[in-house]
Amino acid sequence: MSIGGQGMKVKPYKREVLQDLVTWDEHSLFVRGERVLFYSGEYHPFRLPVPGLWLDVFQKIKALGYNGVSAYFDWALVEGKPGDFSAEGIFALEPFFEAAQTAGIYILARPGPYINAEVSGGGFPGWLQRNPALYRTREPEYLEATQNYVSSISKIIAKAQITNGGPVVLVQPENEYTVATEDYTLFPDSEYFQYVEDQYRNNSIVVPLISNDASPQGYFAPGPPQRYAAKVDIYGHDGYPLGFDCANPYSWPDDALPTNWGDLHQNQSSSTPYSIIEFQGGAFDPWGGLGFEQCATLLGPEFERVFYKNDFSFGLTIFNIYMTYGGTNWGNLGHPGGYTSYDYGAVITEERTVEREKYSEAKLIANFFQSSPAWLTAIAQNNSNANSSYTGNGAIATTALFGNVTKFFVVRHSAYNSLDTTDYHITFPTSKGNITVPQLGGSLSLHGRDSKVFVTDYDVGGANLLYSTAEIFTWKKYGNKRVLVVYGGPGETNELAFTRVGRPRTVEGRGVNVGYKNGAAVLQFSTSSQRRIVEFGNDLAVYILDRNSAYNYWVIDLPNDSVTKNYTNQKHFTSAPIIKAGYLLRTVEVERDCLHLTGDLNATTPIEVIGGAPQRLRQLTFNGKDLRFRQSRDGVVTATATYNKPQISVPDLKTIGWKTIDSLPEISSNYSDTLWTDADLTYTNNTIRNLTTPTSLYSSDYAYHTGNLIYRGHFTANGQESTIFLQTQGGSAYGHSIWLNDQFVDSFYGADKYENWNATYTLPKTTAGKKYVLTVLIDNMGLSESYDVGRNDMQAPRGVLDFNLAGHNKSDVKWKLTGNLHGEDYEDRARGPLNEGGLYAERQGYHLPGAPISSWKSSKGPEEGIDKPGVAFYATTFDLNFPQGYDIPLSFSFSNSSTNTSETTPAYRVQLYVNGYQFGKYVYNIGPQDVFPVPEGIWNYQGSNYVGVSLWSLEKNGGKVGSLELVAGLPVQSGYGAVVASPQPKWKKREGAY
Ligand code: GAL
Repeated sequence: MSIGGQGMKVKPYKREVLQDLVTWDEHSLFVRGERVLFYSGEYHPFRLPVPGLWLDVFQKIKALGYNGVSAYFDWALVEGKPGDFSAEGIFALEPFFEAAQTAGIYILARPGPYINAEVSGGGFPGWLQRNPALYRTREPEYLEATQNYVSSISKIIAKAQITNGGPVVLVQPENEYTVATEDYTLFPDSEYFQYVEDQYRNNSIVVPLISNDASPQGYFAPGPPQRYAAKVDIYGHDGYPLGFDCANPYSWPDDALPTNWGDLHQNQSSSTPYSIIEFQGGAFDPWGGLGFEQCATLLGPEFERVFYKNDFSFGLTIFNIYMTYGGTNWGNLGHPGGYTSYDYGAVITEERTVEREKYSEAKLIANFFQSSPAWLTAIAQNNSNANSSYTGNGAIATTALFGNVTKFFVVRHSAYNSLDTTDYHITFPTSKGNITVPQLGGSLSLHGRDSKVFVTDYDVGGANLLYSTAEIFTWKKYGNKRVLVVYGGPGETNELAFTRVGRPRTVEGRGVNVGYKNGAAVLQFSTSSQRRIVEFGNDLAVYILDRNSAYNYWVIDLPNDSVTKNYTNQKHFTSAPIIKAGYLLRTVEVERDCLHLTGDLNATTPIEVIGGAPQRLRQLTFNGKDLRFRQSRDGVVTATATYNKPQISVPDLKTIGWKTIDSLPEISSNYSDTLWTDADLTYTNNTIRNLTTPTSLYSSDYAYHTGNLIYRGHFTANGQESTIFLQTQGGSAYGHSIWLNDQFVDSFYGADKYENWNATYTLPKTTAGKKYVLTVLIDNMGLSESYDVGRNDMQAPRGVLDFNLAGHNKSDVKWKLTGNLHGEDYEDRARGPLNEGGLYAERQGYHLPGAPISSWKSSKGPEEGIDKPGVAFYATTFDLNFPQGYDIPLSFSFSNSSTNTSETTPAYRVQLYVNGYQFGKYVYNIGPQDVFPVPEGIWNYQGSNYVGVSLWSLEKNGGKVGSLELVAGLPVQSGYGAVVASPQPKWKKREGAY
C-alpha cells in the first residue's frame, strides 16, 4: 500500500515482537506480567500551562486510587506554521511524562491528530483550512499535512514509553472515527485508519494501540469477528449518557442508562478487555450556558455511583473518565462552542481544588475496584433479565459477574432514575450455598439514585468475606493482620459475613449485631456517622463507616523498587497504609520506623493511621514537620495536623492605578496600514464555502487563525455609498463593529446562537472623490471542530464572508487585514501561536510584562471605560506577597450591576492578560462566565505581576466594566512545595509591528 506520497514503508508489524511489557487478553491489560485495572482520568497538559503544577494534578488523581491518565495533545499549539513543530517550555511533554512517573500514573497518549476536545479546530491548526483535501480521509494532501506533527510528537511519546522506562502504556490513534456524512461512501475506511496506525508504528510507537469509537460501533475492533481490514490492538469506545445540557441538573431522562454495552462488546471485540476510553465525567458548557456548577451537580456523586458501577457491570477493566481535571481554555485555544473555563464540572475543579463531593465519591469507587484483583477476570453474566434477578423484587436490577471463586453483584433500581427507597432481600450463591440476606432480620434498602457492588467469597488477604452488602472501600494485609474498611449509605441496614477468621468483638462503637449462620460469623449494622470497629481475633479488623466518613480515608501506594517506582503494584498496594486524614493526602512513605506523609489541609485535621504504620513508630512527619502522635497497642497511630490561617492581601484593582492606551488607532485619519496583509488572493482552497467576493477575505487564507481580526476596506467615494451590506463569521458568540473612517457605523453584539451575521448598514454621508476606509473589527471565537468525517467543518472561514457597498462593484473596495502580528510567524514562541490576537495592543506586545506603560495616560482602569465605541487597553503592575506553603486560588471577578442601568445589557468584550498569558475572554452580554481563575505560575505569588485588560465597547455610547476585582479563595495549606513559574518573556519592541 502506498498512500500519502511519503514513500513510507509499511511493515507488517506484529505486536508480539514489539514489546512484552504491556500485554492483554480478553479480560484485562497486563503491565510487566501483572494484571492491572487501568483506571484513568482525562487531563490535558495544554489546559494548565504551568508545568510546575502538572505533578499537583497527577497527585490529586493518584490520590483518587486511579493509576492512569489519558491525555490529548493539541496539534494546533505545536505546529503554528506548517513544518515548524515546536514543543518547548509550557508545550514540552517531557515534564508531563516525568510528573506522571513521579506520581505513579500510567499514560494513555492521545495525540490525534484529530482530537475534538472542544479545542479550536478540534486540534487542527488553522493553516489546514488552506488544504483542499477531505480531512480524516485517505486523501494524500490531508495525510501529508499530518506527517510532520505525527512523526515529531511520536518521537517524544516513544521516548516516554514504558519500554524506555517511561509512563506511556497505550497510544490512541485518531479519535472517534465514527460518524461520517452520507456522501462519504468510503467510511469506515480501513486504508485510512491503517495509515494513521502505521504513522505511529513507523515512528517507534510500540505499546498497544487502542481506539475510541464515539459509540460502540465496533469499528476496527480486532474481533472476533474481525470486520475490517484495519484493526487496533484493543477496541474501546466512549459514552456521555446524560449529554451536555446542564439546564436541569436533577433530571435524569428515562432510558439514558446503557444496558447493552456488555453484549455489544462480546459481539464486537471479545478478544480484548472491555474498554471505555472516555466516560462522562462532567460536561462542556457553551457561551450563554449555565455555568459549570450545574454540570458538577448533574454529573455529581449520584451519577458516579449509578453510571460508573453500571459501566463496571459489563466487565470493564480499562476505564477513563473525561474530564477528571478540565482546566482552562486560555489564550484562545478553545473552540467557539465554549468559553474560557473548561472546568467541566469535573472531580478536580479548574482551580485544582478537590472539594467537590464527587471527588470523594470517585475515590470510594476506584479504591474498591483497585483492591479487588478478582474483578479482573470476573465474567459478566447475561443481564438481559437483570430486573428482579437475585432479589425477586422487580424494582431492583442486579447484574452478576462471576470469578473463579469471588462473585460480584451490581445492584441498582430497575428504573435507574427512581427516587424511591426500596426495601429488598437478595439471595447470594455462595460457597456455603444460597444465602438470603439479611439473615439477621430486617431488610436491605436501596436509596434513590444509588447503586452498590456486593461481593461473595471475596478474598481479604486470606480471610473469606462470604458476602457483604456494605460496600468495600479497601482492604490491606499487614503481617498477619488484615484491615477491611466498609461503608454504607445513611441509615441503611447492611450485613456481612466472614469465614476463616476468629470470633468477632466490637472494639469501638455500638449497635453491631453478631450472629452465626451457615458456618459464618455474621455482622449486621445500620450505618451511621458513628464508626464501629469489629475485630475478629487477631486476624482482622473491620472498620464500619458511613459514606461521608469514608470520604476522609485515603490509600496512597508506597514507592516501589526502582523499576516499578510509584506505580500501583499488587504487592505494595495490599500493604499500603490506610490513613484517615482530611482535605488531601499526596504521598506516603515508610522509612524504617518513620512514616512520612504529605498532603493538604483546609482545616486542622485529625490524622489516624489505621493500618500500615511501622510497629514501633519513632517519627511521624506531615509535610516535612514532626507531628506529635500516639500509637495504640495494635499499631494505630493518631495525631493532629494543624492548619494555620495565613494573612493574605490582594490588591484592590479599583484604587491600584492603571495606565491606558487607545487600542483602535486604526480609525484615526493618520493611521497607516501599509504593513498590513493585502487580501488579494483571487481563489481559496476552502471546500465548504465558495467565494462571493473578488478576492478571498477568509482570515486563515492569510495565516490569521486566532483572536480578534481587523479588516480595512479602502475605496474612493462616488457619493452613492448610502449603505453597506456586510456578512461576517466568527463562531458562536462572536461580534463585530464597523467604522467608516473615524465614524462609528454599527455593531453586531452577538449571541451564542449566531456563528455569523449579515446586515445592511446605513453609512454616514460620503463626499465624491474622497478616499475612505471601512474598518471592521471581528471577534474570532476559535475554529470549528471537524467531528463528521467527509465534511470539513473545521474550514468554516473566519472574517468577512461577503459585502456590498452601495453604488460600487465589489472590486472597487481593496481590503487589507490583520490578526496576530505576523500570523503563522507568531512573535511569542513561549506562549504559543494562539495566545494573542489582532488588537493593536496585542500586535505591539503591550499585553506582555515590561510594556512601556509609563508614557501612557493614567486611568482608573476598565471601570472608567470609554465614552464611545472602540477598544481601550489598560495595564497595571503590582507585587503579590503570598505566604509560601499555601495553594491560594486567585481569580478575576466581574460584576456589572452598576452599568446595567438601561433596559438592555451593555455589549462589551474584555480580554484579561496575566504576565502575558491571555486568561479570560469575557463577553458581558452573553456570559455566563464572570469569574476567571488564573493559576500560580502564571501569577507570581512572591513577586511582580503585570495585568493587561482590553475593553472593546460595541455600544454607541461606549461602555465600562461595572466592577473588576481580584478575589482569593480559601488558602489550602499545601504539601506540594514551591511552584516553578512558567516562562514569562518580557516585552521587546517588535520589529515591523503596526
Ligand atoms: C467526545 C470527544 C472528546 C470531547 C468529548 C466532549 O466525543 O472524543 O474529544 O469532545 O466528546 O467533551
